[in-house]
Amino acid sequence: MEFPFDINQLFPERISVLDHTLEAGGKFAGRPDLQACCATVIDELGKASARAQQLPAPVTSASKMKSQRHQLYLLKDGESNGGRGVVTGFLKIGYKKLFLLDLQSVHVEAEPLCVLDFYIVESLQRHGYGLELFDFMLQDKNLDPVLMAYDRPSPKLLSFLANHYHLTENVPQVNNFVVFKSFFLNRSGNI
Ligand code: ACO
Repeated sequence: MEFPFDINQLFPERISVLDHTLEAGGKFAGRPDLQACCATVIDELGKASARAQQLPAPVTSASKMKSQRHQLYLLKDGESNGGRGVVTGFLKIGYKKLFLLDLQSVHVEAEPLCVLDFYIVESLQRHGYGLELFDFMLQDKNLDPVLMAYDRPSPKLLSFLANHYHLTENVPQVNNFVVFKSFFLNRSGNI
C-alpha cells in the first residue's frame, strides 16, 4: 500500500509496534505532521481490512486506536516505491474480558489477548508476510497462539491458524470469539 509520504521516515523498523499514542517509540513528539501521516496509514489499513472481510465498517482506525488499549503491529517493505517504502499489512491485538464456554459448556470468565484485526495487502497474501507478522507478535508477547482468542475470524484466518499453528479444534461459543481446545487445557495464568 503506497502513500504520498515517506513510509521509512514514519516507520524506520520493518515491523513497528503502535499503541494509543500512535507513535513508533515516541518518535513523533512535537511533529503533528508525522502523527497525521501515521493516522492516515492506520485509517487506510483499517478500511482495506474491512473491505477484505466484507465488514460494514472498519474495526481499526486511528481514532479507535487512540481510545482503546490495543497494540498494532505494522509491517512495511522499505525498498519499494523508489525507496520511500510501502505498507504490507498489520495485526491488531488487545485484551478483552470474555465469557467463554469451556469443554464442559460451562461459562468461564477470561481476559485473554485477542486477535482483533489482521490484514495483508491483497497482492501480497500467501507470501508468508502474515506469518512473519504473527510470529513477531508471538515472540514479542512470549505467547502460544492457543492461549489467544480470535474475534470473528475469517475463513482465511482460520486456514492460516490451522496451517501454521495446527489450531483446528475450536470450542463452540455463543459470542463472536473463537478459542481452541487447548486454550482450556493450558489455562493457568491466562484466565
Ligand atoms: N484462501 C484460503 N486461505 C488463505 C488465503 C486464501 N485466499 N490467504 C491466506 N490463507 C491462509 C492459508 O492457510 C495459507 O496457506 P496456503 O497458501 O498454504 O494455503 C496461509 O494463510 C498463508 O500464510 P501467509 O502467507 O503467512 O498469510 P498471509 O500473508 O496471506 O496473511 C491473512 C494471512 C492476514 C489472513 C491474509 O490472508 C488476509 O489479509 N486476508 C484478508 C483479511 C482477513 O481475512 N483477515 C483476517 C480477519 S479476522 C481477524 O482479524 C480476527
